[in-house]
Formats: sequence, structure tokens, C-alpha cells
Amino acid sequence: MSGSAASTGPKLSAIDHVAIAVHDLDAGIEHYRVTYGVDVAHRERVESDGVEEALIKVGGSYVQLVCPTRPDSPVAKFLAKKGEGLHHVGYRVADCAAALQRVIDNGGKVIDEVPRPGSRGTTVAFIHPKGGLGTLIELVQE
Ligand code: CO
Repeated sequence: MSGSAASTGPKLSAIDHVAIAVHDLDAGIEHYRVTYGVDVAHRERVESDGVEEALIKVGGSYVQLVCPTRPDSPVAKFLAKKGEGLHHVGYRVADCAAALQRVIDNGGKVIDEVPRPGSRGTTVAFIHPKGGLGTLIELVQE
């Protein structure tokens, strides 16, 4: 029965972050500070992804502003193609490897075949938007 299949095994536990691609990180931070009254909790350059990101805490989740640090960064390509806007959704999971395996077992198209280090000391894996309701998804294990 499909109902019982959904309720067992690895599952999403929370929205960890909503990532928004921006051209100018400082301007993005200022926009959220002035417009929504929220400020940066964590800022980090992730060289492997070619991004600098700012995490703005909203309740138990974050808005993650991501800005490319080099022209060949995937976020730079996204900005060139689509402009600023929603880039991906990060879902919190207890076990990234197990959650990733579940996606693979159910025919999902993954970007990361195995979990890798993310920002804030997290372990992450990205799922391709194709076959994933058009949404780039990041599984995040704290
Ligand atoms: Co992310």
C-alpha cells in the first residue's frame, strides 16, 4: 500500500532554507533588513560551489541569499539565464545518505550521487529539478 510506504523510512523533517540567487549579496541583505526586519545569522564563502551565502533566520528556518563568486559558478549561470529569484529549497533530514538513497530508489535524478559537505558544517546532496516538479532540492543534514 502506497500510504504505508510514505510513512516509513527516511523523510523530510523541516524546511531548512529557501535559497534566493542575488547579484549583490550586501544589497540583498540590506533589502531583507530594511523591508522585513531580519538580519544575517551566518555568512560564508563556499569555494567549492563558487558562492558566497548569507543565512537570515526566519523562525526555525533560513532565507539563504546566494551570490556567485566566479563566472563559472552554477549560480552565475542561473542568474544569467533567469535573473534574481528562487534558486532552491533545502529540506532538513536526519540522515542525508538515507534520504538520498530513497530519492534514487524512487527514480529521482540526483546531482550528488553521494552526500558532501555543505555550509555551516552540514552534509548535503542536491536533487535535479528535472523529474522533481521543476524544483532544485537540497537535502540538509545538520
Ligand atoms: Co542551499
